[in-house]
Amino acid sequence: MNTSLAGRHALVCGASSGIGRAAALALGALGAQVTGLARRRDRLDSLVEELQAMGVQANAVEADLDDRADLTDTIDAIVSDHGPVHVLINNSGGPPGGPLLDATPEAFELAFGRHVLASHLILGRTLPGMREAGYGRIINVISTSVREPIPNLGVSNTIRGAVASWAKTISRELPPGVTINNVLPGFTDTDRLGQLAEGNANRQGTSADAVREGWRAMIPEGRLARPEELADVIAFLASPAASYVRGVSLPVDGGRLRSI
Ligand SMILES: NC(=O)c1ccc[n+]([C@@H]2O[C@H](COP(=O)([O-])OP(=O)(O)OC[C@H]3O[C@@H](n4cnc5c(N)ncnc54)[C@H](OP(=O)(O)O)[C@@H]3O)[C@@H](O)[C@H]2O)c1
Repeated sequence: MNTSLAGRHALVCGASSGIGRAAALALGALGAQVTGLARRRDRLDSLVEELQAMGVQANAVEADLDDRADLTDTIDAIVSDHGPVHVLINNSGGPPGGPLLDATPEAFELAFGRHVLASHLILGRTLPGMREAGYGRIINVISTSVREPIPNLGVSNTIRGAVASWAKTISRELPPGVTINNVLPGFTDTDRLGQLAEGNANRQGTSADAVREGWRAMIPEGRLARPEELADVIAFLASPAASYVRGVSLPVDGGRLRSI
């Protein structure tokens, strides 16, 4: 099986923590040159150090996916400074939790901008390089909520559905050799999950540990995922081995989803 990403350049959004950070390391381990993008410079610097210690050509760019006025220039600079992007990981922070009835229009707009518009803009700026190389892998980190909406994550549920539809539609338009797929993380032990556990605990008048225990009870594997378990699936989809996988939404959830 060919999983080598030697000679390929991966741009990983949301690379400063959680699933994005783990994905950057997994892609580097397969031989890719890696550019990490996020807002926190110190976290990005430590990622670059870790990648370089593995012998990976790596760099990082501080950018805010909510600031699309600057994003075009940022992505163009990445391409001109570090070369065409062949692997794009669209990943960032999820919207805050809470009942959907309480959600403001601004919360929907922010989430749509961060998850749909930013991904669309970055794809537009990086696709020419993928076309020219005859190799492209776009992987969107979204959520199992595209199959089964998750209570108290209404804005997220709504926007993930939009990302999944965006990706499926574009999967029919991209040229041969350039694929787009979605990874749907289940409960994965990251900063994001810690924040959701605290938020649910406050709403339910219980502890974050009790919330986590409730989550574990729903998962046939009996535990939360490690970010590396998501990263390995992302790295596979980015590799030549996944050449005929296109337009899918792949749950990586320890079997929690009940739908077929
Ligand atoms: N963990 C789970 O159980 C789980 C389950 C289902 C879906 N997901 C989804 O998977 C994605 C990744 O989750 P995670 O658990 O890895 O979260 P995380 O640990 O909080 O990491 C989020 C990453 O996104 C970056 N980010 C957030 N907002 C950004 C912005 N405006 N511009 C640029 N970068 C931004 C953060 O970096 P900076 O703060 O440095 O910018 C960080 O690197 C999220 O969309 C999440 O909702 C997670």
